[in-house]
Amino acid sequence: MHAVAIVAAAGSGLRLGAERPKALVPLAGRPLVCWSVDALRAGGVEELVVTVPTAARAAFREVLGPDVRLVHGGRTRTASVRAALGTVDARAEAVLVHDAARPLTPPDVVARVLAALAGGAPAVVPVLPVVDTTVVVDDAGTVHDTLDRAVLRRVQTPQGFDRAALLAAYAQLPEGVELTDDAAVVRAAGVPVTTVAGDELAAKVTVPHDLALAELLVAAR
Ligand code: CTP
Ligand code: MG
Repeated sequence: MHAVAIVAAAGSGLRLGAERPKALVPLAGRPLVCWSVDALRAGGVEELVVTVPTAARAAFREVLGPDVRLVHGGRTRTASVRAALGTVDARAEAVLVHDAARPLTPPDVVARVLAALAGGAPAVVPVLPVVDTTVVVDDAGTVHDTLDRAVLRRVQTPQGFDRAALLAAYAQLPEGVELTDDAAVVRAAGVPVTTVAGDELAAKVTVPHDLALAELLVAAR
């Protein structure tokens, strides 16, 4: 199965607070985006498209090499993925969408997503259980409800899609509507989304604590 991956790397990383775009921040000396691209390749992806902040294109080109296609991202993640999707080869059967900010994603997770797509699923997400008690609060912070965590999952990336289904779903999504992941886009179009096991190592680097933890994990290998 010919699989293309879109790596969303066009964010600035406000919550991390580094002096460069988050995807270029080094982990053990290598930019996060390079770790993510390597994981996708090791998991079986043949072709890569990376969305980049327009102003930092040259810096991404320097670290990524010529066999990765760069696309200017948009103001939001949804806009960035939409821009990249427009460049995906029509011969590709599967499209994976991955956050550059998940540098330690094990290739096994990528392989599980690809296997589910090869088995006929139109949309696949890696998930993990929710281990903390999870509650609903009101504006004042008062707890109103405790959710049944047995049916809750945390959703990671890479998320995998039948290319035609993902394209059709993005085409149906009104311009300006922002969803936090791509599975929400296809679900909005009525496509069923199945799950495979994610991995704690695929955690997203969002705040400085996450990067410090990733450094420790790499050092301990
Ligand atoms: N992303 C993107 N285009 C945007 C915004 C985000 O491609 N306009 C990418 C980021 O580069 C990141 C992934 O989407 O790899 C997940 O987003 P997030 O973790 O929120 O990263 P940032 O938006 O960069 O961080 P922050 O929200 O803290 O500014
Ligand atoms: Mg963001």
